[in-house]
Amino acid sequence: MMKHIENSLRNILENTPSAGHDVTHSLRVRDLCMHLAHAEGGDIQVLEAAALLHDIGRPAEFRDPAADHAVISAQLAPDILSGAGFPSRKVPAVVYAIQHHRYSSGVLPDTLEARILQDADRLDISGALGAAMTFAYSGALNRNLYHSSDPLAEHRQLDGDTYALDHILSKLLHLPCSMHTVTARMMAEERTRFLDRFVEQLAGEITLCRRQPDE
Ligand SMILES: [Fe+2]
Ligand SMILES: [Fe+2]
Repeated sequence: MMKHIENSLRNILENTPSAGHDVTHSLRVRDLCMHLAHAEGGDIQVLEAAALLHDIGRPAEFRDPAADHAVISAQLAPDILSGAGFPSRKVPAVVYAIQHHRYSSGVLPDTLEARILQDADRLDISGALGAAMTFAYSGALNRNLYHSSDPLAEHRQLDGDTYALDHILSKLLHLPCSMHTVTARMMAEERTRFLDRFVEQLAGEITLCRRQPDE
């Protein structure tokens, strides 16, 4: 059953433009959900199916930026679930978790499974993976690595839509405090400590490059 769902995910996301959110992200989110559920509880079947299918609407959103991939994923999921023989009584819980997986929607999900999926989704963009995915996404959108004269935004507003480093500074370094579950918060804090060190190293290298020879 789950293999069928995973194969559907691969058919939809493999070989499509992903800008860093490729099929491996969905597989890691599934694994993170299983890890979090071990400590926090939740329905394993609902979580695994929701994690595998949560981003299948991304190719549609990539084609039409006005579309919401959470809505599209939730619309596509029931057919895949019924084709896989997934228990029909659990389909609404999967659809709900998918619909509410975007933390940026500002809605606090009602179910434990939806909260765990939100946590796992953001946990996967924290730490080293978060930096890697940010640079991949920024490259796909032709964004700059950092602001040329004020890389750390000491004298300007952060602009994560224009500079990859700004996205890390404004969003990724603050992910731990947005986690719903204790387990996810602890994991995010550990990953973010690495990201802090990465930014420190990056800033040092940028500063050295910008220094004049006679300084
Ligand atoms: Fe998503
Ligand atoms: Fe995701």
